[in-house]
Amino acid sequence: AAIVEHTFNVGNLTVERLGRSQVITAVNGQFPGPKIEARDGDTVVVHVVNNSPYNMSIHWHGILQRQSSWADGPNMVSQCPIRPGGGRYTYRFNVTGQEGTLWWHAHVSFLRATVYGALLLRPAPAEGYPFDKPHREATILLGEWWNASVVDVERQALLAGGAPNNSVALTINGLVDGDHQLLTVERGRTYLLRIVNAALNYQLFFKVAAHSFTVVAADACYTDPYHTDVIVVAPGQTVDALMRADAHPGRYYMAAQVYQSLANATYSATATALITYYHQDDATPPEMPSMPAFNDSATAERFYAGLTGLLRDSTPTVPPHVDTRMLVTFGLGVTPCAPEQTLCNRTLGSVAGSMNNVSFQFPAAMSLLEAHMRGDPDGVYTREFPDRPPVMFDFSGEAGAGAAFAFTSKGTKVKALRYGETVEVVLQNTAILGAENHPLHLHGFNFYVLAQGAGNFNAHRHVRAYNLVNPHQRNTVAVPTGGWAVIRFTADNPGVWIMHCHLDSHLPFGLAMIFEVDDGPTPDAVLPPPPPDYPRC
Ligand code: C2O
Repeated sequence: AAIVEHTFNVGNLTVERLGRSQVITAVNGQFPGPKIEARDGDTVVVHVVNNSPYNMSIHWHGILQRQSSWADGPNMVSQCPIRPGGGRYTYRFNVTGQEGTLWWHAHVSFLRATVYGALLLRPAPAEGYPFDKPHREATILLGEWWNASVVDVERQALLAGGAPNNSVALTINGLVDGDHQLLTVERGRTYLLRIVNAALNYQLFFKVAAHSFTVVAADACYTDPYHTDVIVVAPGQTVDALMRADAHPGRYYMAAQVYQSLANATYSATATALITYYHQDDATPPEMPSMPAFNDSATAERFYAGLTGLLRDSTPTVPPHVDTRMLVTFGLGVTPCAPEQTLCNRTLGSVAGSMNNVSFQFPAAMSLLEAHMRGDPDGVYTREFPDRPPVMFDFSGEAGAGAAFAFTSKGTKVKALRYGETVEVVLQNTAILGAENHPLHLHGFNFYVLAQGAGNFNAHRHVRAYNLVNPHQRNTVAVPTGGWAVIRFTADNPGVWIMHCHLDSHLPFGLAMIFEVDDGPTPDAVLPPPPPDYPRC
């Protein structure tokens, strides 16, 4: 095992996009930021120096952070921010039993729009992939671009209590120019595409003209080889897919296009880049893939339902026994405008994301993890997060379920778990303010996706549909539009872990909850004390 060490200098960078020059926040003067490559068993050490004008924190999305909750990164959850003007913090964590494509990103404000990069975990040297070794690989980071400071975009949304302004373009590897050459291929060879959805607010369809894929991993968890010609990635999710270069030697577009789950949405955008064959003998213009309709939920749901986990000797089996069952409803509702929301419509109120009708409030004085470690949550959080929604109603109803609006309350409430217990959560998308697909991301764990479906979860009908044999694992589940998903995980990682919607505008509105996991009985089940440079408020 090696030590993989990086220094991330966060600061201003001026870039040209869409014919304008713009100052963005970026790492080491690169956009997207540096790629981190490690092998299973390695220790990753990243020294972050914040010379940007904003508070900063970095999250290593999908890294399990076993016994290193301090390095997880979400602002005010696992740490106070790294201050502007040269603040520093060293993130240190081990790669434990993980292979595949992950990524890192800022976890404060909307800054992850430009502060992100790939985090590639390769098999240990003696191991190798559980599929034929690809000839080469390409990392494909899908993102969004605003002709504005993203901190201002977020501020405006918060002041108004509504959706943020749409981005003006999608990006592929940071570029808006649709004709850049991303990959050159040799006919007959197989390529590994490592696809990351780093967009803030859009789920995406991804295709390559005249080619199909074999999906081999999702969120750095191996899947059974799954053949498809369209890939669906929600914000936060990753897909590793093999692509065989078996088309006529020519030029082909890859395209990422917004998938809008909201039935009445009209917004669509597409980003493209080129794949070119060596020795191409073709002067014809590159071919565009034919994309699904931008609101094609059936295609999205078929893709997710087709994924199963790869069974290998080392694959842990689904824990058969469940200690804690939760039914968690979540979605967007409304709450009265706060005094500081100066642009908020006093009649309509402010958007409030919630889980079990609690709209999560970030603490101000101290991070949740610090309060957890000092053994006294008083004044920072309570352990009152309900296991079930306090009010039941027809969750899958269309927008305007009137009375339900009144129920969203604000609070910093956590769900406490005993070390090692097995937790099953039915995630029910409530669709009070429009039926939209919400990608829910859990920090600190991979979970099994046992089942998912449309409409209301029904224990009698749906428990029989659970896949307890080979469900796929991941860290971010796109809960279907007005539907549900059931996840199961073992709480064997001490610390404080956020689960939140990875549509970035929903996090500051409170679409989040917290799991607090106690230390366990053995030394390898204890969270060590914080590192000496741990940022405090
Ligand atoms: Cu990718 Cu909490 O984030």
